[in-house]
Amino acid sequence: QTIYLKDYQAPAYLVDHVALEFDLHPTATRVRSTVKFRPNPNSSSSEFFLHGENLTLLSAYINGAAVTPVITEAGLSCTVPDGPFIWQSEVEINPSANTELSGLYMSNGMFCTQCEAEGFRRITYYPDRPDVMAPFDVTIHSDLPYALSNGEPMRDEGQTRRWQDPWPKPAYLFALVAGEFQVVSDHFTTASGKPVDLNIYVRDGDQDKCAFALEALKASMAWDERVYGREYDLSVFNIVAVDDFNMGAMENKGLNIFNSSAVLASPETTVDGNFERIEAIIAHEYFHNWTGNRITCRDWFQLCLKEGLTVFRDQQFSADMRGAEVRRIEDVAALRGRQFREDSGPLAHPVRPESFVEINNFYTATVYEKGAELIRMLKLLVGDAAYKKALDLYFARHDGQACTIEDWLAVFTDVTGQDLSQFKLWYSQAGTPIVTVRDHFADGTYELTLTQVTPPTPGQPNKQPLVIPVALGLLYPDGTEALDTQLLVLTEAEQSFRFSGLHAAPIPSLLRGFSAPVIMQRETRQAEHLVQLTHDPDLFNRFEASRELGKSALLAMLQTEAAPDDAYCGALLQVMINEDLDPAFRAMCCALPGQDEIARALAEQGQTPDPVAIDAAVHQLSEHLARQGLEALQALYHAHQLTGPFSPDAASCGARALSALALRLISHVDGGALAAKQFARADTMTLQLPALGNLNRHGQGTEAVAQFYQQWRHERLVIDKWFSLQVTTCPANKAVAVARDLLKHPDFNLKNPNRFRALIGALAMTPAAFHQADGSAYNLVADQLIALDDINPQLCARMTTVFETWRRYDGARQALMRAALSRLAAKPNLSRDTKEMVTRLLDA
Ligand code: ARG
Ligand code: ZN
Repeated sequence: QTIYLKDYQAPAYLVDHVALEFDLHPTATRVRSTVKFRPNPNSSSSEFFLHGENLTLLSAYINGAAVTPVITEAGLSCTVPDGPFIWQSEVEINPSANTELSGLYMSNGMFCTQCEAEGFRRITYYPDRPDVMAPFDVTIHSDLPYALSNGEPMRDEGQTRRWQDPWPKPAYLFALVAGEFQVVSDHFTTASGKPVDLNIYVRDGDQDKCAFALEALKASMAWDERVYGREYDLSVFNIVAVDDFNMGAMENKGLNIFNSSAVLASPETTVDGNFERIEAIIAHEYFHNWTGNRITCRDWFQLCLKEGLTVFRDQQFSADMRGAEVRRIEDVAALRGRQFREDSGPLAHPVRPESFVEINNFYTATVYEKGAELIRMLKLLVGDAAYKKALDLYFARHDGQACTIEDWLAVFTDVTGQDLSQFKLWYSQAGTPIVTVRDHFADGTYELTLTQVTPPTPGQPNKQPLVIPVALGLLYPDGTEALDTQLLVLTEAEQSFRFSGLHAAPIPSLLRGFSAPVIMQRETRQAEHLVQLTHDPDLFNRFEASRELGKSALLAMLQTEAAPDDAYCGALLQVMINEDLDPAFRAMCCALPGQDEIARALAEQGQTPDPVAIDAAVHQLSEHLARQGLEALQALYHAHQLTGPFSPDAASCGARALSALALRLISHVDGGALAAKQFARADTMTLQLPALGNLNRHGQGTEAVAQFYQQWRHERLVIDKWFSLQVTTCPANKAVAVARDLLKHPDFNLKNPNRFRALIGALAMTPAAFHQADGSAYNLVADQLIALDDINPQLCARMTTVFETWRRYDGARQALMRAALSRLAAKPNLSRDTKEMVTRLLDA
């Protein structure tokens, strides 16, 4: 059944207060609720409906009198009196049987919940929609040492724990956790002097992996006060780490629940990239307290209201913590890798979708990452001062409300007087706009003509022109600046811009800082890119120039069997050793383009990528680059070895990233000799893991892989890495066999999302392995998804996206991928989640 944005109806009843009482039991938990309802003056309906799924109703009362509601698979309805009334019910649920990890479930003997988007209805009968907000009062009976919920802890009464959350919230922000934990604590004092207790609850053995997350939390709290004027609003902020969790983390009021992979960190078990990700996710969930919790969404079509804004805020935070330019490069690389990919295939949808079958299928890169890009553009268009005023107005006007994108845009219009109706198209129109560039220079005047086209996407054959902010600078061919950064605003299908008084034909530095989420197309001019790579004052565009050069080098090798491009390799080596540049930037700028990126580039040019050939070309180019620069690479490697205690700060991470790039290249020449030395002496995961990867990539990994397992068999997050590494670094034509063996390993477990992703996800995201011409990887993945669907439909549905690029490939591969998907589609009792995904994947 499809749900449409246009059908939104205000709730018939509002809730003034909720009291919940839990008798926790692994297989038979009782939940009693007492809910104060009153008719919604803004609704004409008087129909009383409560969501509820998989619940056994034991009793129900209205104003103290027993009632017998009509129960369906989706919930219950009941006749109710006019005016306010009190609803009471008792239900029984079975947390142990809950393998979907939605609602109340068990993970390693602890009780925990996940309610966003629609999990609360699996706990008790309730209007489970975000526009019904209420204060919650929670009582938990359990003999477990800890029992937590949202808000403020009340006085402890032995095996009864009570929590009161004074801030009205929708049910999706409810959380409950109970179990045996180790607690690591700290304190924060807010700007206005209120003390806050900070606690991280973890399994015994993980206590020593909490310090980094606590520091990140304190930094986030201080940052939100300083930059957005937002203070925390409870006396306690709790974080719990759980091993079985469908996504990264969840912003439940005062009780964030984290996938353990998104919070636990130690130098021995965690790589630099994990530290960075943990810092960003801690910030993300904390920032939701205002953008998501205090101001929430009216309905799930508005998901980007909280997610786009909160991603944007966490990106700003990370930029402040770790350097704006390198963070921007990483964010754009991720955007292109996931969102552009989504936007160009059968799953393309608007940032604010207009219909869905299962909302969990819309927690996507488009809603999150493109949603954040829209806010970034808005800020660029109105300016920093107006952005700040608009945000202050947003918080002042909408605190305590459930809002829409219209409310969000209205604060910008009210602050700036600007008409944002054309900008709003970004929220409703799917697809990545393609901006084509033509230019011309004569008599000191440079004319730039930009044309925009957004290709058709499912359900949207015709597109309108968007508002596209294009940050532009001009360089002279000698690399000096001809024009400082200007903001051009493209609003028409085609527009020209003139710049006069120039003494030579300039090189355009377009879309600086990636000022809009579009694809820029301009005929490749290698000489210009070489100038940009070494001289563009905009570091993002230096990185772009490197990508463009890398892509053309690889495309030439693939299309015309050209030799590896010496000019490109030479330029990369120059950047790598340029001491004026941040090592983190050098590492990013000099890594070769990813294989999926090459495939996408080919598809954008209307060609059919061959993933196996791409893999070979990347390998050949890497080896060529390594041979050309071997001495420089060795010097670079040795110059960036750090001494002293490990620190995950930005500068140290940058140095290690650069030395890792050097090692990876050197391994193409020495076959893993240097990697073996690094592996032997490594005392941190950031050194150990890439060393192992290089060994395995060059056929020297067997012993080290076994040794690594013995060393880390009790650290599940490290064992996830061990699973991934083997399928991503073995020869592509062996990956399916390696994966088959690993499926039989006693540590493989279909029920743990991290482990499933570590093996199946990693295989599917390694293009040459996944796209083996015989279709064996497609079949292996389909088999596992068929097995997973009954256990965890949400994760299964999410993982079907590994097939979203099927139309890029040749007829034989297309047929094999379609066959694999059709097999999944034909599975008996296919979940609604997976069914929606395979339908969209196959229909478009
Ligand atoms: N709100 C959470 C976050 O972005 C993610 C929740 C995802 N829920 C889901 N059902 N996919 O931090
Ligand atoms: Zn979020």
